[in-house]
Amino acid sequence: MNPAEESDRKLVDSWTENAEAWTQVVRDQLIPSRRDGTDAAIVMACLTLGAGPVLDVGCGEGWLVRELGLRGVPATGVDVSAPLITRAQERGGGAFAVATYEDLERDANVVAGPWHGIVCNFSLLSDPLHPLLRALRSRLDANGRLLIQTVHPWTAKGDAPYRSAWRTESFDAFAVPFPSPMPWYYRTLASWLEEIAVAGLRVERIDEPVHPTTGSPLSLVLHCRTA
Ligand SMILES: C[S@@+](CC[C@H](N)C(=O)[O-])C[C@H]1O[C@@H](n2cnc3c(N)ncnc32)[C@H](O)[C@@H]1O
Repeated sequence: MNPAEESDRKLVDSWTENAEAWTQVVRDQLIPSRRDGTDAAIVMACLTLGAGPVLDVGCGEGWLVRELGLRGVPATGVDVSAPLITRAQERGGGAFAVATYEDLERDANVVAGPWHGIVCNFSLLSDPLHPLLRALRSRLDANGRLLIQTVHPWTAKGDAPYRSAWRTESFDAFAVPFPSPMPWYYRTLASWLEEIAVAGLRVERIDEPVHPTTGSPLSLVLHCRTA
């Protein structure tokens, strides 16, 4: 296994080990940036899609699927983490299944759709992304959109160089202890646009929600459609 494959394996495993802690921080609203605007930003972006079913890829414990269901948008969530999918199914409010990104790339029958909207909310954490993005593009209906919310490269850069690279999230700043650090791939804006273009998609709009008092960017929301 090369270092990138090893990082990817640890990333995936971390979401099984951290499932309980993650469920708690999401359900108790313990992530400030989510309260400050990123939850609202992705819900609004999904609602701009209009009627039609939505697939939430990397849905975690399922909050966005439930939120869309409450607003009359039927949604389905998939995630690699069996304990997170169990927590989502216990709460209900939509359909949920265990599936990995690799499953979606390999088998067109997995959550085949076609979907009017596909959403990845802070769930694209690996490298490369274009094989998955291509697999998602093939599941969109003729007017479908892929929505990606991710950390804003400017805010997430911190003191490290502005260069795409694997990093590690320790979750130390979170209000509850997480048992497993998570490798994740920090991506520059150019790298996001490159992965999207190689997958045969184009960005038609970018939202940059900002913190209500500091004005710092909270995230990037990329609205993509077939090129
Ligand atoms: C930061 S969490 C976001 C969860 C959810 N979208 C939310 O907004 O709360 C990232 C999610 O991506 C999922 N994920 C990461 N890599 C995956 C993979 N290879 N296949 C399927 N799911 C994956 C994780 O299990 C985790 O639930």
